[in-house]
Amino acid sequence: MIIATNWKAYVESVEKAKKISTLAKRLASRSSHEIIIAPPATFLGLLAEKNHSKVSFMAQDISSMTGGAHTGEITASMARNSGASYVLVGHSERRTMGENNELVTKKLQHILAQGLTPVLCVGESERDEDGSYLTFLREEITDVFEPLTRKERLQVVIAYEPIWAIGKKASESITVADLTEMVLYIRKILTEFLSGRATNNVRVLYGGSVEPNNIRTLAEGSGIDGFLIGHASVELESFSALVKELEV
Ligand code: PGA
Repeated sequence: MIIATNWKAYVESVEKAKKISTLAKRLASRSSHEIIIAPPATFLGLLAEKNHSKVSFMAQDISSMTGGAHTGEITASMARNSGASYVLVGHSERRTMGENNELVTKKLQHILAQGLTPVLCVGESERDEDGSYLTFLREEITDVFEPLTRKERLQVVIAYEPIWAIGKKASESITVADLTEMVLYIRKILTEFLSGRATNNVRVLYGGSVEPNNIRTLAEGSGIDGFLIGHASVELESFSALVKELEV
């Protein structure tokens, strides 16, 4: 499985960043899972430089522009040269700042052009009785997948993160039954862009209040390929508990 962690802006000191990164490397050396960490951009190069461990690094976001006179922008090329091999794109916390599917697609193309793997975040803000959240999700995926080539589509990792389930407690997260249904639905949407068998090669992660006490339940039988974890991944104790829960 993939255990991808999103530090967001929780980690603000180099000292703490180094501690979590050292732990990630130690956990990864003994784990059968792929551990990916996404420090803030300012710490990425520092932590990923000369990385010979099994941990992979991910940028939390990149610019929709390529290099040039763009003060403050962090390009996909910079992320790659800092040691990232994955890039998060379209996280709901970026979308609330005004990112739309068009911008997400542009970023995604820069990520792919640099040979990096995009982790595309999708997810509805609420669940309504008449099922319009399903249409919303279909559109989010369709808008981004349509312009891509078949080869590019196969490289995208999808992180299903229902916004209503982000940043809460495990008890308020999605149920395993609903998650199983959503993973099937996402793979069904993908059949419009890839042949049936190929859709199984697209990795689908779940994110939203994954904690040590629900990670195993959500992993078992839901058909997901891993997790994208926020708050529970930035404390040493809960981070190692998350990884250990999946080892049993
Ligand atoms: P959370 O965040 O684990 O704190 O809910 C997940 C995310 O937003 O990626």
